[in-house]
Parts: sequence; structure tokens; C-alpha cells
Amino acid sequence: MSVSDSLLSARGIEVTYGAKPHLFGPSGLGIKVLHGIDIDIRRGETVGIVGESGSGKTTLGRALLRLVDVTAGSIHFDGKDITRLPDARMRPLRRRMQMIFQDPMASLNPRHTIRRILAEPLLLHGLASNRKDAERRVAEILDRVTLPQVCLDRNPHELSGGQRQRVGIARAALLKPDFVLADEIVSGLDVSTQAQVLNLLKELSRDLGLSMAFISHDLSVIRAICDRVYVMRHGRVEEQGECERVFTAPASAYTRMLLDAIPLPEVDPHWLRRESVAAETSDA
Ligand SMILES: Nc1ncnc2c1ncn2[C@@H]1O[C@H](COP(=O)(O)OP(=O)(O)OP(=O)(O)O)[C@@H](O)[C@H]1O
Ligand SMILES: [Mg+2]
Repeated sequence: MSVSDSLLSARGIEVTYGAKPHLFGPSGLGIKVLHGIDIDIRRGETVGIVGESGSGKTTLGRALLRLVDVTAGSIHFDGKDITRLPDARMRPLRRRMQMIFQDPMASLNPRHTIRRILAEPLLLHGLASNRKDAERRVAEILDRVTLPQVCLDRNPHELSGGQRQRVGIARAALLKPDFVLADEIVSGLDVSTQAQVLNLLKELSRDLGLSMAFISHDLSVIRAICDRVYVMRHGRVEEQGECERVFTAPASAYTRMLLDAIPLPEVDPHWLRRESVAAETSDA
């Protein structure tokens, strides 16, 4: 795949934590955690990033968004080299690259109401002309993510985990991004709530034509939602390809081991569909 086919693409990126360039010797070198990663995310595509804890998934996601600096390699977003773009020139791009976090409690201001949490970014980014306009859009998106309007006057801790995750999704979607990074966003939720949140994300990404990078250690979640997958190990890409192919005929022994390590029903490709039917029936 050439760099220009992709919305977001990285070549040979390396990340080192704790490097102190002014110090000579091993203490100044830091710890290299990404060792030359190539990744492409096409327009409208959902790409999974999977691998064991500590393999570098979050670091890769944050590097793609320019939230950590790379020590080597290049990153292109929408045809533009953003590898070393200064903060001031990154700022206009920030709205277009959103992130949904694993723990919404940590990313939603606990003292603000949901109304404020959702309306403020719209005003900040100039997507709403005034508070009334912002609140109208907030009310619309609330319906879209199936949250009751009474949630608007609550604080984050007064919502359930699944509801908080919907607020996180709503906040990202309101800004009409081109790219969304979702890092372990369903790992704290029970299985049927996971299915509801994933289905919502799938619909939204289709409606908005979003590109997504979806980080998870859970292979069944990746298989249910992603078009392609990158398998990471020790800061390198061990294998990548179409989800179906990687799951049915893994090329690397490591991917096979990951697949073998989970019980078979858990990698059922129809897991998400089955779960949502079950959730709807239990709601009724
Ligand atoms: N801010 C940091 N400073 C120093 N080292 C870090 C920092 N963040 C992560 N690391 C190290 O980098 C490596 C990769 O971490 P990362 O969080 O990217 O892994 P991960 O694949 O997301 O793991 P998990 O599945 O547990 O979330 C780990 O060895 C971790 O200890
Ligand atoms: Mg992580």
C-alpha cells in the first residue's frame, strides 16, 4: 500500500522513553519500546492493533496522534508529513484526530456536567456558533448514542460504565473527526454492554466515514469490528493482514499462540451479532 492511499500512515517509527540526549552513556539512552513500525490506515477502514500487555500498542497509538514523539521514522496524515510538526501547526489537525480512552472516568472532568463536557469542545473548535447551537447538537448526538437526555445534567460518576463510554464516543463523534483511536475502550464492560458499545461505534464509523485504529488485547473484539489487524510483539509488527485471513490462517507462530490461548467460542466471528441479539432480547 502506498503512503498516499492512506489517511494515516507511518514508516519505520521508533519510540524511546526516558532518553536524555544531553547525557552520554547508557543512562542517557532510555528504553526503546517501538522498533521500526510500518502501519497504514485507509479512509473508512477500521484497523485492529492486538498484542500482549507491554507490546507497545498504546505507545503506537499515541505516536500516530503525535502525543509521544518518535525518535525515528515518519508519520503522514492526509498526505501531510506531521512527524515533526510543531504544536501550533498540529492544533488545527487535532480536531480531525480524536481519541476514545479505556477509562472514561479519567478523561471526563468529574466536576463538569455531561452537557458541559459535550458542548465545550464544539465551542472551542468553532463548530458551534453559540451555546444554544452547541446544546442543540449535543441533544442530537445523545439520541444517536442512545443516552437519555436526563444524563445531560449529571456528572460522569453518576453514569454507568457503558453510559460513560457512550459519552466518550459522543464527544469524539461531535467533532466530526476523520480518524479515531480507540484504546481498550470496552475492556472494563460486561459482554453484552461491550456488544452494544461496539455496535454503536461500528454504525457511527460507517455513517461518518471514519477511519479507526482499534486497540485491544481481546481477539474476539478485534475480529468482530476490524477490517485488518496488526499483531504486535515486543515493539514490532509480528504479522498483519485482513482479519479473516489472520484469524483463520495465521502466518506467524506467535499469532497462532495468541489464538490458541483463548477458548474457541471466544473467537467466533459472529460473536458481536449474537451478543447484540441477546442484549435486545433481554432489554425487551
Ligand atoms: N510513559 C512511559 N515511560 C516509560 N516507559 C513506558 C511509558 N509508557 C509505556 N512504557 C513502557 O513501554 C512499553 C510499551 O507500553 P504500552 O503501554 O505501549 O504497551 P501496551 O501494549 O499498550 O500494553 P497494555 O496492553 O498493558 O496496555 C512497556 O514496556 C511499558 O512499560
Ligand atoms: Mg495499552
